[in-house]
Amino acid sequence: MCGISGYIGHRDAIDIAITILQGQEYRGYDSAGLAAIVDGKLCKKKEVGKVAVLKESLELEKWQSQISIAHTRWATHGKPSLANAHPHHDHTHQCLLVHNGIIENYEVLQKELISLGISFNSQTDTEVISQLVGVCYQGNLLEAVQKAVSRLEGAFAIAVMHAAHPDEIILATKESPLCVGRGQQEMFIASDPGAFVRYTRGVVYLHSCELARVTKQGLEVFCTQLKPKQKTIQTLGLEASDVSKGQYPHYMLKEIYEQERSVKHAMLSHCDDAQGSALFEELDLDHLNIERSIILACGTSYHAGLVAAQMLEEWTRLPVRVEVASEFRYRPSIVEPNTLVIAISQSGETADTLAALRALKHKCCYSIGLCNVQNSTLTREVDASVFLRAGPEIGVASTKAFTSQLVLLSLFALKLARLRGMSVQEGQSILRDIQGLPEQVKQVLLQRSHIQDIAKRYACYHNFFYLGRRYMFPAALEGALKLKEIAYINANGYAAGEMKHGPIALIHPDCPTVACMQDLVTLPKMMSNLSEVKARDGKIIAIISEGMKVELADDVIYIPQVRDELAPILTTVATQLLAYEIASLKGCEIDQPRNLAKSVTVE
Ligand code: G6P
Repeated sequence: MCGISGYIGHRDAIDIAITILQGQEYRGYDSAGLAAIVDGKLCKKKEVGKVAVLKESLELEKWQSQISIAHTRWATHGKPSLANAHPHHDHTHQCLLVHNGIIENYEVLQKELISLGISFNSQTDTEVISQLVGVCYQGNLLEAVQKAVSRLEGAFAIAVMHAAHPDEIILATKESPLCVGRGQQEMFIASDPGAFVRYTRGVVYLHSCELARVTKQGLEVFCTQLKPKQKTIQTLGLEASDVSKGQYPHYMLKEIYEQERSVKHAMLSHCDDAQGSALFEELDLDHLNIERSIILACGTSYHAGLVAAQMLEEWTRLPVRVEVASEFRYRPSIVEPNTLVIAISQSGETADTLAALRALKHKCCYSIGLCNVQNSTLTREVDASVFLRAGPEIGVASTKAFTSQLVLLSLFALKLARLRGMSVQEGQSILRDIQGLPEQVKQVLLQRSHIQDIAKRYACYHNFFYLGRRYMFPAALEGALKLKEIAYINANGYAAGEMKHGPIALIHPDCPTVACMQDLVTLPKMMSNLSEVKARDGKIIAIISEGMKVELADDVIYIPQVRDELAPILTTVATQLLAYEIASLKGCEIDQPRNLAKSVTVE
């Protein structure tokens, strides 16, 4: 949700700031802008649309600079327009800043500033920050930023430049990510460190309520009272190839194909073959008396939570609630004793998941974050984190993170089940099935050309149903979400048994149904539900285990047989490919679907 980049050093700052920005475009792509000091003057350039548009217009300017900040926007306050694009300036036009986050008290501050005679040029909440910095400025930029941010309520990561301070960039953060990459006499700034890995692997993460002064020579970090703080430089465990598309036309396709490997990575060092159990050395479960669990998540991660809840209840007999974080945070957070909280978030930055977690943190017995991004806010706020190790997920629609979440959640459920009396033999049998998943994922990926053919027949439809029961219900929700997200097709994920309570009224020859049928327990019921669809002339694409028959279907995708609990992983790889192929036939912007952003750092 908005990406920030910056550079200070001896190289072409504009080129580097733009390159870092492009590596974070998944965070928003409504408009882009850059500020730089050119021939001693503070200059800015903004464009509506993607970073490529900004890059092109900067090329015409031929600016030379060694200090720059830039921004790619996902609009919250004010539509995507030049006026609302960042950077925003203060009343003197000497100060420019970029911002990621939301300022909740911006209207109050705006009124106050207007009463001082300041006029506003945009509809953004961000402009109150630049104007406040301008009002607070008395020759020391760091102090001005500190005074300004002390007035802000909400979340922010900002990077600030001033014409009178051509050798420094000031940063400030609260609950929004920002980090600095260290080079030799040069520093790189980004919301996501993966974006500067091609330049440096040494990174300092800013934590909430920290300020920093970045110069060519180094980085000084301060607390909100401007007392210096010691920070450690960490080494990024990434390579530049991890964040490139390689031979693939889209990140999403690359990430779909990476699943054979990412599913394997997820289970590395977590399998205890001898005990038929799982190892989680990062968790301290033994002394806990867990009696129930609450899972918090949003979007695709929520669907992973739905699968996990069924699995945990079946294998451990612990009651488990799964909550959409954006709803849960406004309910009374009633927590019974000995509740384990599991927050699932690929990015670890989703504002609603963090807020829901904060509401429960002091009431639960233990909180676990299941996350893909090291050092993300979530991982700093939970008692312990489990990492997906899926590598950076750059396509806006989540793919490999989901399947890795499911692998780790199944291992975690196995661990708890073994602690609560599941036999070694049963544990070993589940573990063997989990370990067989990478090969089975590969088998599903081999179906791509068949799925492409199916996509050709169905890309013309405007409405779809995705149906499933039991473990296939979340798989149906996830399949439908993928089609909505990237192909802009109205797709309803539904529990198949609920169809007759209303939605079946929508079934007709122009509304195909994707039937997720890999759940063996409910297969006979699912067959009856599909007869009801067929009786109304609905077309059916069935996704079913090899060896099963489904005569009612117009098209069938066969995938390897696996136990019901793990089936959402394989079915989802097939629905990801189906959505991808349909979106591709429709010529959609697959990696950057309209109106979406990958990291939703606002409510
Ligand atoms: C956004 C992304 C989704 C993701 C959701 C939750 O909506 O586009 O792909 O599932 O956020 O993100 P998280 O990082 O918390 O898993």
